[in-house]
Amino acid sequence: MKMTAKRALAVLLAVILLFGCIGVGASAEGTTGFEVTRINCTVHGDTQTQRGFTWFTSKKCDSAIQVVSAADYNASGFENAITFEGSVSAWEDSYCHKVVATGLEAGTEYRYRVGSYDRDIWSGTGKFVTDDGDDNFSFIAIADVQASSLENFEQAALVMDAAMELNGDAEFVVNLGDFVNDCTEEEWSWYGQAFEDANTNLTLVPVAGNHEGNITNKLNVGWFDTMFNLDAGDGAGNGVNGTYYSFDYGDTHFTVLNSNDMYPMTEAQRNWVYNDITTSDAHWKVLLLHRAAYSAGKNINKPDTLAMRETIIEIVDETGVDMVLSGHDHMYFRTQQVAGDAVCEDTVYVTERHNGEDVTFAVNPDGAVYILPSTAGTKRYGVNDGAIDPIMDCADVYFTTRSEKDENEVETNPYAGGCFANVEIEGNYLVYRAYVVNDDTQEVTLVDEYAIKKTVADEDVEDTKLPTDIFGSIDGSVANFFTEIFGLLITYLTELLPQALGGLFG
Ligand SMILES: [Fe+2]
Repeated sequence: MKMTAKRALAVLLAVILLFGCIGVGASAEGTTGFEVTRINCTVHGDTQTQRGFTWFTSKKCDSAIQVVSAADYNASGFENAITFEGSVSAWEDSYCHKVVATGLEAGTEYRYRVGSYDRDIWSGTGKFVTDDGDDNFSFIAIADVQASSLENFEQAALVMDAAMELNGDAEFVVNLGDFVNDCTEEEWSWYGQAFEDANTNLTLVPVAGNHEGNITNKLNVGWFDTMFNLDAGDGAGNGVNGTYYSFDYGDTHFTVLNSNDMYPMTEAQRNWVYNDITTSDAHWKVLLLHRAAYSAGKNINKPDTLAMRETIIEIVDETGVDMVLSGHDHMYFRTQQVAGDAVCEDTVYVTERHNGEDVTFAVNPDGAVYILPSTAGTKRYGVNDGAIDPIMDCADVYFTTRSEKDENEVETNPYAGGCFANVEIEGNYLVYRAYVVNDDTQEVTLVDEYAIKKTVADEDVEDTKLPTDIFGSIDGSVANFFTEIFGLLITYLTELLPQALGGLFG
């Protein structure tokens, strides 16, 4: 009798274990392939009320996000969340999900999760904050992570972590392009993995780099536009080699260019940019593009950059842009106030107490400041002594962020490390600061500061409403193409060739 009871107990335990295992097995099988990867939250049109989301799964399923205010989330999790549904499409060997959250409240902190509503499979909890519309906010900028190993993506993510720790109030991060190196599925997965914390907890403003949309050495068709959910609005987010778009944040207008669309810049984009900036009455105007017009890196004398800089400088001058942020050249470069490809010599600077610190401001300056905040990644370039004139005349601060260790392995470059920038805009004050993060210790060092005080509105630029329809401006595009090619040839013959010959025989 005693044995029978023991046997019955053993059978019962076996049955429980068996069913338990089956239960776990069924649950694991039920989620396999539907796990969310490479999630990001991007600006999408109105920054006060909307956000775009992108993520990937190995198997096909529906696309949904649940959004709830932080206050509601703390009280009852996702119980009172609003669910938004979107689209799913096949991409390489996986599925790309895109959803837009609309009708959000301005100036509100939100929690969200993405996944499959039908299968009740969700990601972890992410967060973002909507623009409250006032003229006080800050953001982070990084450039050229461009890694080709998980290890190097993780090293760059440490720079992003340091930026988020230094400025916990940042409302978004601008990534100035070249997210990846060879633009493979593997690299994007590594990027998504290493940057998961940043991409789920901070709104991203992505800029198309040549490594995710080049037409010269790789044809990375559709990658940038697949990885991010952006609203190109009237712009030709053509989906081939990148997207150009714009948005307002507080009293600042941000215009994001696609510098892959510049061999030379198409008439459609040039006209769109011009109209986009001149029709904005925002107090500050910030231009974001991958290729830098001012740099002393290895790319500055290349034909694509030369073609681009003439177009960009003219647009910046004519539209009253205050600050241009770029990447591409993996070294640090900041100009003085520049207009017409020359220094604005009459710029007045004053040092004032601002938020408890002495800060030197350019006061109501002419022109714009052009900034290349080196790279957050590990591929860093030296200073190119052959930068075309008058770039070096316009420079204020420049240096390499490469490690330069002596024979005893002691670092000799005070600027060595991954770089990030922090921009604070507060009414009439814009304060930009750049930092490097030590590769080994993650110690953060301030390496540059520049500030502008702007108490007067920009002069109204005549709104000429240039055609943005590519078919309407096709003649202009053709003319523009031949003009630029001819201009480049002249530049090479008159400036670069003598420089090269001088270097050869000098
Ligand atoms: Fe680049």
